[in-house]
Amino acid sequence: LKRFGQFKLVLLGDSAVGKSSIVTRFVKNSFDEYRESTIGAAFITKTLDLDSLTVVKFEIWDTAGQERYKSLAPMYYRNAQVALVVFDLTDLESFKKSQKWIEELKIQGGDDLIIKLVGNKLDLQDDVKFNIIDDDIVNEYLSILENNSKNSNKNIDGTSMKVEYIKTSAKSGENISKLFQLIAEDLPVE
Ligand code: GTP
Ligand code: MG
Repeated sequence: LKRFGQFKLVLLGDSAVGKSSIVTRFVKNSFDEYRESTIGAAFITKTLDLDSLTVVKFEIWDTAGQERYKSLAPMYYRNAQVALVVFDLTDLESFKKSQKWIEELKIQGGDDLIIKLVGNKLDLQDDVKFNIIDDDIVNEYLSILENNSKNSNKNIDGTSMKVEYIKTSAKSGENISKLFQLIAEDLPVE
């Protein structure tokens, strides 16, 4: 007898940070050097055997990061249990954009929404000239976020909003399965 869970997951973040590439690595274990920008959003499902007894099915909405599609996003994150907010580790603007997404999700997202902040293109960080967003910058942001949510009135029980951070590379595949494994472990399975 297996335990089964089915969950809606949405990816948000600036254009070209690698949202579709993360999904493709997870679902098909492949990577395209030249990938076309997503139009609107793409839907794909993937079933994951968490362990020998537990099966998790992800219903994935891969949204388009281009500004002109921004107004569509609430349609996708409103019913989601999990939001992956993705930025490009070599692109400061994309990190700022990810902070805006987290702010929006705090206000408009569901109360039980699990949010993961994903720094993608980890393979480029070995190259010093690309190493722009280091762990200190991200951790400082996350501690401010946690303190702010402690003081906000959305969480009346006094719990704070905890956003976990993980660095990935859709290109090398580093931490991609780990990311979805971590998410699956956070989710209620019956
Ligand atoms: P939109 O659909 O426009 O929102 O973009 P996206 O976030 O889906 O980005 P996409 O997956 O299309 O990737 C954009 C570009 O970055 C592509 O050329 C990818 O090959 C490249 N890319 C994605 N992930 C990685 C990565 O981990 N490392 C490197 N080096 N390149 C990556
Ligand atoms: Mg895309």
